[in-house]
Order: sequence, then C-alpha cells, then structure tokens
Amino acid sequence: MLTAKNVSKTYPDNTGAGMDLNAVSDVTVEIPDNSVTVIVGESGSGKSTLSRILSYIERPDIGRIFLDDTEITALRPSELRKLRGKVQLVMQDAASSLDPHLTAEKILAEPLKLLLHLDAEQRKSRISELLGVVQLPEDLLKHRVSELSGGQQKRLCIARALAAEPQHIIFDESFSGLDVTLKKQVLTMLKDLQKTLDIGMLIITHDLDTAMYMADRIYVMRLGRIIETIDHPHSFSDFKERYSQELVKAALYKRNAIQYTANGV
Ligand SMILES: Nc1ncnc2c1ncn2[C@@H]1O[C@H](COP(=O)(O)OP(=O)(O)OP(=O)(O)O)[C@@H](O)[C@H]1O
Ligand SMILES: [Mg+2]
Repeated sequence: MLTAKNVSKTYPDNTGAGMDLNAVSDVTVEIPDNSVTVIVGESGSGKSTLSRILSYIERPDIGRIFLDDTEITALRPSELRKLRGKVQLVMQDAASSLDPHLTAEKILAEPLKLLLHLDAEQRKSRISELLGVVQLPEDLLKHRVSELSGGQQKRLCIARALAAEPQHIIFDESFSGLDVTLKKQVLTMLKDLQKTLDIGMLIITHDLDTAMYMADRIYVMRLGRIIETIDHPHSFSDFKERYSQELVKAALYKRNAIQYTANGV
C-alpha cells in the first residue's frame, strides 16, 4: 500500500501578489497494491504535484508518505535509493523524460538490466511482451526516440515504467492524446496486467470515462484537496458533491459533442 497522510505542498508566489500557492492541502489518499485508483480534477487542482510527492520525486512540506510500513518521508537519500523502481511515475510530459538520441530498445533494456539484472536473451523476450502491452510494433525498437511520434513516445514511457516491475505505478495523463481505439486497448491490457501482476495503479486523468472504466476507487480533487471518494463506481450518478457533478456535466457534454461530430451534425 502506498499512502499519503495529511500531505501539503506550497509553492512560493512568483507573481508579487504575496500569496503563496497551496498546490496540495492536507491530502490523505491510499493506493492499494491490488487495485486501480483514479484521481480526477480540473487543471491546476494539484494532481501532478501529488503524483510527484507519491513517487518521492518531491518532498511534501507537511505530512508523510508510506510505502507499506516504511515512512518514505523519513528516509535518508541513500535509503531512498534502495527503493528506486518500486514506485514508477509516468509523468504528464512523459516524452521529455526520454533521451531523444537513444533507441526504443535501449530505453526498455535499461531498467531490465539495471534493476532486474536480466541477461540479453531474457531482456529480448521481456521487451517483446512489453511492446505487446502498449501496442508498439517490434520494428520501432531500432528507431531513436526522436524518430517516434508523440503517441509512440508516450507508450514507450508506459512500457519503460512497466519494465521495472514496480509495486506501484502512477500514470499522470498518460493516455490522453492516444486515439480512442488504441486507448481502450491499452487500458484493457493494463487492467489485465494489474490483476495478474498485483500492481497498485494510480491513474490521473481529466477523462471521467477512463476513470469509470478503470477505477476501483475514484478520488475527486479540487483546489489541492480531496473533496470526494467513490468506491466501486458504477455510474456517473455515484458522483454526489456539487463540484463532482459539474465534472460529470462537462463529460456528458463532451460525449454529446463527439456524438454530433460523428453524425456529421
Ligand atoms: N514547480 C512548481 N512551482 C510553482 N508552482 C507550481 C509548481 N508545480 C505546480 N505548481 C502550481 O501548483 C498548482 C497545481 O499544479 P499541478 O500541476 O499539480 O495541477 P494539475 O492538477 O496536475 O493540473 P493539470 O490537470 O493542468 O495537469 C498550479 O496552480 C500550478 O501552477
Ligand atoms: Mg497535471
């Protein structure tokens, strides 16, 4: 279980208005090992900040992070290094975390070599499996990152995160920008994978349809706070808070707009 307990993060004000910004305020969330947790919320609500804190890239000002019984926030950097790979974050601007000069193969081989110590043959078969999950063709392996499309780079980041065989994996808007059928395929595979590998997944998304499809639990975040928690969501009517209902309205509006466009209206 990955847990944030009463976590807050403030960024200094750069505008000169003298108001520091509470990006995350007193947030408590639990990401169990064997389920999919989703955080939804509008732009600027603190989702990416929370994801960096949960994956110990950034420290909270207040509050504590636990990985099972280990308090991450109490560890020294040398102790923290031993836990590297356990929580993987696929960042919102994932592609920028890839070295453009490396080939896709090299990107995927690295965690397999450094974290899992697999030999060349084991790496080869594992890389094939990973490509299958994210629906990338094998012939892209020899391509450099700079020669891949944005969507292909995104999927490479997802595959790289999975390669590390993490206990938890956080996807920050990792599926937006993939076309609808591909997105559905990747999500379905991740769902299956989550069940077989017992990974705890946290998906951060604007997209309520993705949330409904994937989530065992949905947290709704607003202005740095968790304002609603929905367990085992079945339909949009499970969203009870007024703000959450506004998100639902926007999602339904988007759905209708797509429908009209598809009908050529
Ligand atoms: N490194 C930073 N320095 C200063 N302010 C920051 C920093 N990172 C985030 N913020 C601010 O914190 C708030 C929350 O940002 P965050 O990126 O966590 O939101 P988000 O929910 O991920 O938004 P989006 O859906 O647009 O990705 C925003 O007002 C943002 O401007
Ligand atoms: Mg974000």
